[in-house]
Amino acid sequence: MQVDGKSYHTIWSDEEKKVFIIDQRWLPHRFVVEEIDSCTKMAEAIRDMHLRGAIVIGVAAAYGVYLAARDSKGDLDRFNRLLDALRETRPTAVNLIWGIDMVLGRISGVRDWEAVVEIAFNAAREVERGELLRCKMIGEHGVGLIEELFERKGDVVNILTHCNAGWLACVDYGTATAPIYEAHKRGIPVHVWVDETRPRNQGARLTAWELLNQGIRHTVIADNTGGHLMQHSMVDIVIVGADRVTRRGDVANKIGTYLKALAARDNGVPFYVALPGSTFDLSLYDGITEIPIELRSPDEVRYAQGLLGDRIERVLLCPQESPAVNYGFDVTPFNLISGFITEKGIIPAVEDSILALFGD
Ligand code: MRU
Repeated sequence: MQVDGKSYHTIWSDEEKKVFIIDQRWLPHRFVVEEIDSCTKMAEAIRDMHLRGAIVIGVAAAYGVYLAARDSKGDLDRFNRLLDALRETRPTAVNLIWGIDMVLGRISGVRDWEAVVEIAFNAAREVERGELLRCKMIGEHGVGLIEELFERKGDVVNILTHCNAGWLACVDYGTATAPIYEAHKRGIPVHVWVDETRPRNQGARLTAWELLNQGIRHTVIADNTGGHLMQHSMVDIVIVGADRVTRRGDVANKIGTYLKALAARDNGVPFYVALPGSTFDLSLYDGITEIPIELRSPDEVRYAQGLLGDRIERVLLCPQESPAVNYGFDVTPFNLISGFITEKGIIPAVEDSILALFGD
């Protein structure tokens, strides 16, 4: 996607095998590129959310394995310790483990360590490229839903999204936003309701910034506004991303997603989840009891970050002594989901359909 007229991905590597990311902590106020030159730094970047969003977490983890191989210089114990630390950075997005396993699968059985490093680098690059193409395909399949709504309505299609499942959460295109970008490209008039997404405000900070850069009409709303908008026919479709989806179709996504799905069901608004195959975890069935939910620092709830004059500052929102709790994700049960928009097409949220397309 374009930033100030220059094309960017969220993560990339250069010919010297250096790895770079967009450091999302300072957006929308500052655009910062960071070099990640060790596996430990990559683990830090994932844990402290220099980058975030399931898809880019998976790609970052894949590059993390390459960096671990390079850093450990053939010391297998060190290599495994670095990977253990990487695995523990963020528990909910299954893409993290998927990205690590994709690279490990390619180096298993290779003895020569120089070759291991080289193969790991190439595998990470392939993961990056693969996820980019899968997100593009999600856009091409999902745009049909928006097109249909436009034909039926003959007017601007209003889409509600939660958190940031945009290109910043992926390598490019996004998952939930890919159909929106494609619709915009095809000249279909769209308007996006952007949930601010407390506590870290990924909607207000990141999704709004992305849409603004792409010239797409949007409005930032407080998280609790969606139900009201749906009751007044101001939302035509909800599209969100996912961090882990079980075999029966339960979806873990940013905290608050479940409430949007309930409101959508009550108001007859279609509720779609956009994801690539890397986000399915077919080893799990019941998402509510089985998906690990990340518990983050209470200070993310107690404080908010923003621009004050020309400085980025944090302010305290509640009494200093009040405790807070910060669940990062919730689970939306399969029965509230109209369908999955995937790189292989749109499928209903039922086990048979998931297994038919992603069972292998
Ligand atoms: O905590 P985050 O910012 O990593 O949570 C991100 C989300 O919940 C996204 O909706 C999700 O990762 C979708 S992936 C494109």
